[in-house]
Amino acid sequence: MGSSIDIRLDSLVNPQPVNSRAALVANSASVRGTFYLETFGCQMNEHDSEKVAGVLLSRGYQRVENPEAASLILYNTCSIREKAAQKVFSRLGVYRELLGKDQKIGVLGCVAQQEGEEIFRRAPWVSLVCGSASYRNLPQLLAQVEAGEQRVTGLDNDTDETFETEITRRDNPCRAYITIIEGCDKACTYCVVPFTRGPERSRDSSRILAELRQLADVGYSEVQFLGQTVNSYADPSPRKMKFSELLVEAAQVPGIRRVRFTTSHPSDFGKDIVDAIDAHPAICNHIHLPVQSGSTRVLRAMRRTYSRQEYLEKIALIRAATRPIAVTTDIIVGFPGETEAEFAETLSLVDKVRYSGVFSFKYSTRPNTAALSMPDAVPEEEKRRRLAVLLEKQRNFQLEDLQKLRGTAVEVHVDGKSKKENQWYGHSSFNCVVNFSSSSEDLLGRYVNIRVTACTPNSLLGEHTL
Ligand code: 5AD
Ligand code: SF4
Repeated sequence: MGSSIDIRLDSLVNPQPVNSRAALVANSASVRGTFYLETFGCQMNEHDSEKVAGVLLSRGYQRVENPEAASLILYNTCSIREKAAQKVFSRLGVYRELLGKDQKIGVLGCVAQQEGEEIFRRAPWVSLVCGSASYRNLPQLLAQVEAGEQRVTGLDNDTDETFETEITRRDNPCRAYITIIEGCDKACTYCVVPFTRGPERSRDSSRILAELRQLADVGYSEVQFLGQTVNSYADPSPRKMKFSELLVEAAQVPGIRRVRFTTSHPSDFGKDIVDAIDAHPAICNHIHLPVQSGSTRVLRAMRRTYSRQEYLEKIALIRAATRPIAVTTDIIVGFPGETEAEFAETLSLVDKVRYSGVFSFKYSTRPNTAALSMPDAVPEEEKRRRLAVLLEKQRNFQLEDLQKLRGTAVEVHVDGKSKKENQWYGHSSFNCVVNFSSSSEDLLGRYVNIRVTACTPNSLLGEHTL
């Protein structure tokens, strides 16, 4: 396989703005077509879209920024939210209104995999339905669509291959994403991912590192390894690199200053990862370690493969590090059968761990999941109440902890400039958002030391010390 090319947003020759179908026709003499790509969902989905855009660009398509101007509209969907399919069908209804003759629509991602051919039945104006496990077949599928086939599907989910692209069209000029493991082999009873993204497939470490070196060569200094269970990484190459070894090797690539990874699964989380962070400042001191519940009974019902105690032992490993490490988590409240006492266990775990951030969700049903048929649904109102209690507790912790940083200096990788004059924002190694003032020009992509002056529950405020 030849080497791949990464296109950075700022180095990309901007596609011609195409604002009307007439302009599209005029343009199409020189290009195969134009595409508009709308994305929902997690970072994995965002990054999948970057790779899909790369495939299209390498096939001679041009990207346009409004759907009316596109010969191909692609909609990369997510099913993590409640009623995802319903939302997708309603969006497809909006597209139908826009759709001109010769325009095609494709549905990608989790809802495509989940709903499959049902999409053609309910939205016959769609030409392509493709789940993420079939993206590697996109070039052939696109050729079928281009040849005028009406109902092209990529729904094969039983694969051991990963989605390797020649070109990835990177949208974030500061942080590059690299998927190191696709799919998921866990079987959490509430989760649709094993169904929509298929079985776990890890990429060769040599390919990952080659991609990383190339990113460093084009100027990226921060990388984030992605996977639903990123630390379950199992190198298929003879090198058999452990996940923690991959982190260390990545941190040593010249030009790379920050290595991040998400999402870690507690069962596959070991001390070697903490040791790697401790020994290599380029590996960011932030771990996203979803707990989902503080009750062992609920964790068993969720089939999370660890107990409350085992999770807390992983936290103890992290807290024993010499570098402070920020820990964030995901929590589901109101899982079927969750009692008040079990919810209280979640609250007490939150007290114990003292997270830097919590993404909390009210349990809601997903198609094809084991929890669908579980009895004792928690009433919606009670779920809402539990969520509010959890949010309030966490908000106070965050405020208290961030306030302690007042007067200290943090290193910030600058992501952008806000609309207000002399105002910039970026992230600390902990992954905390930092908003700061600076009269310097041209800070984008630079690392600066910021003196913290104030905070909100979710961000630090500060000033650039020159
Ligand atoms: N209901 C509520 N939250 C869910 N999540 C996944 N599936 C569900 C569901 N059915 C949450 C989990 C996961 C995060 C990405 O989304 O907390 O870690
Ligand atoms: Fe879903 Fe569980 Fe896999 Fe995470 S580990 S993607 S929650 S099945």
